[in-house]
Amino acid sequence: MTDPVRKSRVFSGIQPSGLLPLGNYLGAIRQWLGTQADHENYFCIVDLHAVTIYQQPEMLRRKTLEVAAMYLAAGVDPRLSTIFVQSHVRAHAEGSWLLTCVTPVGWLERMTQYKAKAGQRTSVGAGLLVYPVLQAADIVLYDANEVPVGEDQKQHVELAQDIAQRFNHLYGETFVIPQAVIPASGARILALNDPGRKMSKSEAHQRGHAVCLTDDADEIRNAIQRAVTDLGREIVFSQQPEKAGVNNLLEIYELLTGRPRPEIEAHFEGRGYGEFKQEVAEVVIEALRPIRERYRELTGEPDELKRILEVGAENAAAIAEPKLAEMKQKMGFLASPRYRVK
Ligand code: AMP
Ligand code: TRP
Repeated sequence: MTDPVRKSRVFSGIQPSGLLPLGNYLGAIRQWLGTQADHENYFCIVDLHAVTIYQQPEMLRRKTLEVAAMYLAAGVDPRLSTIFVQSHVRAHAEGSWLLTCVTPVGWLERMTQYKAKAGQRTSVGAGLLVYPVLQAADIVLYDANEVPVGEDQKQHVELAQDIAQRFNHLYGETFVIPQAVIPASGARILALNDPGRKMSKSEAHQRGHAVCLTDDADEIRNAIQRAVTDLGREIVFSQQPEKAGVNNLLEIYELLTGRPRPEIEAHFEGRGYGEFKQEVAEVVIEALRPIRERYRELTGEPDELKRILEVGAENAAAIAEPKLAEMKQKMGFLASPRYRVK
């Protein structure tokens, strides 16, 4: 139930399955920074989601700490927001099972991300199908009001609404119904080498696909200079499919400079694509420089990172565990002294 005096709660997460590309920053993290001061924020490193696709164990451990460092480097402040690792709070896995039992398979088979990922494989892990139920558990265990994500996660948040509603209907009012918060610009940053597709973490290592938050100036310049555009010469914001590459670079420029669109179009009027890309690259380099430097410092202090994650897990469990206990009580599970909520 929503407590009228409590601050609006925000929950979001990123999988520790690779280097973070600019898409993650512009679509998700940048939004998180805006709600830090006046909302109650939970930003999770969703490692249980990452293992729906095989992860090399040592790499998973490393990337989990790297993504934590990236949250901090990008400006998530542990004094204002709870930063934690999903597998450190057991309620996520357990709550997910309970919600799996109220979710029709048909709802899961309809998910476009499942269809796309399953379609590429000959054998599909069951985790890939129930992935959005775990995401729903993440969100509803905190009674999150807002879920700031990129466009590709809208369908998953809508599913979380349906699952929460169904649970409420079956067992009585338990969960707040969450809302996705999708940015007006930057909700779908496109691959630099193929503006027909989104920029994605799983392909970020491919030459020319993405700029990653850890890239140095030369890597950024190279990727942006090679970005696919079109045969025209107009540097304008446009939803025309052939202008997707130019539009993508313009959105990146807009988000990182904060300049209004008409001013940006006037600024580039009559200029060539080469010069345009050079300027976009410089803006990206300058925006990422402090993030990259701070990231380097933080990854040199793994004990400090682990300490922040430990505090985060304690804070998160203090919300998620009583919520899980409420779910279990409402569903009719026999209480046990072995399972006491702190
Ligand atoms: P993931 O990399 O799938 O863990 O996504 C983490 C967050 O970044 C989610 O909120 C996504 O919606 C967002 N995101 C991922 N890729 C992009 C992209 N290309 N453009 C905008 N947002 C994105
Ligand atoms: N599935 C999301 C993605 O791949 C990550 C995620 C997991 C998430 N749990 C979440 C996002 C809860 C928002 C809220 O991008």
